[in-house]
Amino acid sequence: MSEQDKRVLIFDTTLRDGEQALQKSLTVKQKVQIATILDQLGVDVIEAGFPISSPGDLQAVREVALNVKNAICCGLARALIPDIDACHEALQGIEHYRIHTFIATSDIHVKDKLRRSFDDIVQMADTAVRHARRYTDDVEFSCEDAGRTPIDNLCRMVETAIAAGATTVNIPDTVGYTLPYEFGNIIKTLFNRVPNIDQARISVHCHNDLGMATANSLSAVMEGARQVECCVNGLGERAGNCSLEEVAMAIKLRGEYMGGVYTNIVNTNLARASQVVSGVCNEPVPSHKAVVGSNAFAHSSGIHQDGVLKNRSTYEILTPESVGFKNNTMHMTARSGRHMIKAVLEGMGYQEGTYDLNDLYTRFLKLADRKGQVFDYDLEALLFLSHEQEENSQFTLENLSVMSGDKNLLPTASVRLRIGKRTRTESGTGNGPVDAVYNCIARLCGLKFELDHFSIEAKGSGMDAQGQVDVDLIHEGRTYHGKGLSTDIIEASALSLISACNAIYRAQLIADEKAEEHHPQV
Ligand code: KIV
Ligand code: ZN
Repeated sequence: MSEQDKRVLIFDTTLRDGEQALQKSLTVKQKVQIATILDQLGVDVIEAGFPISSPGDLQAVREVALNVKNAICCGLARALIPDIDACHEALQGIEHYRIHTFIATSDIHVKDKLRRSFDDIVQMADTAVRHARRYTDDVEFSCEDAGRTPIDNLCRMVETAIAAGATTVNIPDTVGYTLPYEFGNIIKTLFNRVPNIDQARISVHCHNDLGMATANSLSAVMEGARQVECCVNGLGERAGNCSLEEVAMAIKLRGEYMGGVYTNIVNTNLARASQVVSGVCNEPVPSHKAVVGSNAFAHSSGIHQDGVLKNRSTYEILTPESVGFKNNTMHMTARSGRHMIKAVLEGMGYQEGTYDLNDLYTRFLKLADRKGQVFDYDLEALLFLSHEQEENSQFTLENLSVMSGDKNLLPTASVRLRIGKRTRTESGTGNGPVDAVYNCIARLCGLKFELDHFSIEAKGSGMDAQGQVDVDLIHEGRTYHGKGLSTDIIEASALSLISACNAIYRAQLIADEKAEEHHPQV
């Protein structure tokens, strides 16, 4: 197999199949923003939309095509002349573009949805592909619901589409029904039985209804498919499409096993693409999502942490850096072992022997039981602060009131904090109610920090749900975490910031303590 034959093209349909599943469609600007990231990620084809569906989508496909530098831009069309003309209208003048036309081929779709004979469908596909080829020499044809199409019909359809001029033929498992071995066999059979198959690239498009999308796509690659259609974060209809980051990293890591295949994806851009798509689409990435979930590289159990500290490969097949995360997280919880505690302290410059590990570990476990998660600065507090200092908060919320409304009202907050033994109040404005509250708290605490991360998550469901706010603050180059929980998300936001400020305050106490150790006052 030549090098070129081993290349698997990545066709991204986040802006079409992915967008179909969103509650709110994307604006032209949002599509261009995502397309720019996809282009930097190295995807080969960007399916930017379905031009016939609305003038806005037609415009979006055009804008994406005008803005991307490397990827080929593609528009979707049913096997109907007006759909194909709309794709051409969106993409005309672009040097190289693709028209992707499709029609369903399974019995249930042909009979019950399209209410036609299979012969009619074959004729429609032939006409559509020939029409599209008048506009561009890059035409993809998809057999919708191929996974449930009788194999003889599928072979006939693929042969017809290629004879009509399709340069890519896509085999979708539209309803995510097939199993990996079965889907791979469909591709193998096409290669064995379709006489002109070598004149087109075979593509696959797998949905994830049974959680098989990535496995099915890879099984197809092993049988010769050389384009995989996917979405960032696995977005897409129902349970989603094959996830781009999973397929890219599986090929990167296991390409040799699959016959030496490779993609052009820049893997270190995957985390950023995931975060941008999640933010723009307002679709949070599940923490356990393979490759890009926030937990994907966190080691929690003591045995795992111990192994990773000795050799990362014991429990890590991918590194967080390889997909663009800056560093991985060791979650210190009540399940963490002594080895982990020692390693974290070592990383902070505390050598074993300068503290009593057994005593520290007992106190760490108590703290972990109480707090759930323990951070490096908490460990330091155990080393330096008395129990009372460790327990007591310097800043406590006493009162909070906020006024906000539509764009005509400037959000205003008033916050009263207990600071040590005194009480102080501040009022201020901001560009939103949380910002107004944060401005007051920052002034009250007298601390300089940068807000690095802010997230809200509903804990529980329905009317009883509580909002959990997590913040990360950067203060003098170090990150401090704060968490706040309340049925009122503004209060939860205030509590999370105050808890991070308390962590900064404790760290300052420790810094003073250390300075005192080195330069004792006479
Ligand atoms: O799932 C599917 O079959 C599709 C086609 C339009 C390719 O999205
Ligand atoms: Zn689909």
